[in-house]
Amino acid sequence: MKGDPRDLGFSTRAIHAGQPPDPATGAVTVPIYQTSTYVHDELGRHKGFEYARVQNPTRSALEANVAALEGGRSGHAFASGMAAISTLMTLLESGDHAVVSRNVYGGTYRLFHQVLERYGLEFSWVDASDPAHLEAALRPTTRMVYVETPTNPLMEVADIAAAAAIAHRHGAVLVVDNTFLSPYFQRPLELGADVVVHSTTKFLNGHSDSIGGVLVAAAAEHGEWFAFVQKSAGAVLSPFDSFLVLRGIKTLAVRMDRHETNTRRVVEFLTGHPKVRSVLYPGLAGHPGHAVQTRQASGFGALVSFDLGGYEAAKTMLDRLRVMSLAESLGGVETLISHPATMTHASVPREMRDALGLSEGMVRISVGLEDADDLVSDLEQSLA
Ligand SMILES: Cc1ncc(COP(=O)(O)O)c(C=O)c1O
Repeated sequence: MKGDPRDLGFSTRAIHAGQPPDPATGAVTVPIYQTSTYVHDELGRHKGFEYARVQNPTRSALEANVAALEGGRSGHAFASGMAAISTLMTLLESGDHAVVSRNVYGGTYRLFHQVLERYGLEFSWVDASDPAHLEAALRPTTRMVYVETPTNPLMEVADIAAAAAIAHRHGAVLVVDNTFLSPYFQRPLELGADVVVHSTTKFLNGHSDSIGGVLVAAAAEHGEWFAFVQKSAGAVLSPFDSFLVLRGIKTLAVRMDRHETNTRRVVEFLTGHPKVRSVLYPGLAGHPGHAVQTRQASGFGALVSFDLGGYEAAKTMLDRLRVMSLAESLGGVETLISHPATMTHASVPREMRDALGLSEGMVRISVGLEDADDLVSDLEQSLA
């Protein structure tokens, strides 16, 4: 395509933003610039690329692309979602406090609690589904409010606009981990957030074959700081992984639509099954976050949790599956099913899991793109 796709629709931007045809050859796909360094034209003059930790054209294309999809000023790509979050947290200094939604990804909890507290950062863990809890946790030293919405596996929904208003009144930044819905369904910066985090490992890449992360910032000063830490700490996304994520994003819109159609079939089946005690999915009208999510997102996503009443019942069901893969992670074309208490959230202490309602009988599905009939049959036979 010719020109700037920024004013065009989501799918057009997903396919074209940040990816003009290769200037040297006209290649429609951004090449994998597998190089560590770049020749200078003469002393003091180069083409904008000096050393690949600092800039790489394949990575730059991905960074521009995700920034365009989230409506941000800048994007920065890292070697994993956790590397992106580690970089993000350098916005804070010793003595600063952050208010965090209480059931963030277990690895985020581990980083904040077991690593960053050693460096003098302080955290309060709150149920972010009620903005009043965020407000009540603010301290004079609060510099950041950090939410995932919906959370995994409990599917708590935070009101992003309300959280932004609370954070900003207090002079703090609002960070939203938008991994689960992707910018196709939810764009936190448009709702007032300052920074969006993604594990590109999930829906953005979408094919379970790459680990990566991205930070998208609304303000120039945040983008400049992330670029500085990216080159200083060096946890950059490789050219090949940048290529994979760019390629995955081209089909993000069609994948997310199909993910959600399949999820609706799975949810319908689970809610009618006698062995299933409860189903957590924000798309259900009775879900406490349904109204907020309907307002702030254009879809409900592909993650659903349900409770089978105990560890043994969950184990029996999980061990019998034939189509769904028992594995950590989510957002791939294949349906991934997991037992949060012993897998993704094993690093969250038992008492905290109990307090959250993250039970031993809970199972979480990331619904993939297989035929919905096969997914429902697999659940049927495994629960029989
Ligand atoms: C919501 C969320 N954020 C961040 C991460 C960390 O991403 P990565 O595994 O790419 O480091 C994960 C991983 O599961 C996640 O689910």
